[in-house]
Amino acid sequence: MNKSSMDRRAFLRNSSAAALLFTVPTWVWSTGCGSGPEVVEKNETWEKDAAALEAKGTVLTKEEPGKWSEKVTPHIPAATFNEGANSVDVVVPHPMTTEHWISDVYIKNQDGIVIGYQKWEAKAYEGDEAKAAKATFTLPAGTTMIAMYSYCNLHDHWKVEGTKIG
Ligand SMILES: [Fe+2]
Repeated sequence: MNKSSMDRRAFLRNSSAAALLFTVPTWVWSTGCGSGPEVVEKNETWEKDAAALEAKGTVLTKEEPGKWSEKVTPHIPAATFNEGANSVDVVVPHPMTTEHWISDVYIKNQDGIVIGYQKWEAKAYEGDEAKAAKATFTLPAGTTMIAMYSYCNLHDHWKVEGTKIG
């Protein structure tokens, strides 16, 4: 075995090891269902609060409002994406009073991870705050779609799924 074939073998062995080192992080990144290497870290409080509401019963929709078919419109969240789609305003056009109000609004990303959560207490709201529950959420990089949820103290839990970012 001459010197040059030794060098070639050593080179191949070393470059294989190097390729493995560079391959592993890429493989780790691509295990999620997201559209890029960004990893959205779960907020455990938001996940727990959303799961607790969802455990109360069926989450209603515009198409399947259950016993609240006369109450659909004020409970359906609507999205307005802000400049560059880095954030979204979610509005639920529901009166906000001490007796009847939207207590929770949250959104999930395309992987079902809660990426924004806002709560409201029972109190006498004034002005625009009394007319609707409005929350602004920052969208993590890699978000392609959101599902929006609202919870009314009298009329249960509602959702709108599959809203594309844009
Ligand atoms: Fe309501």
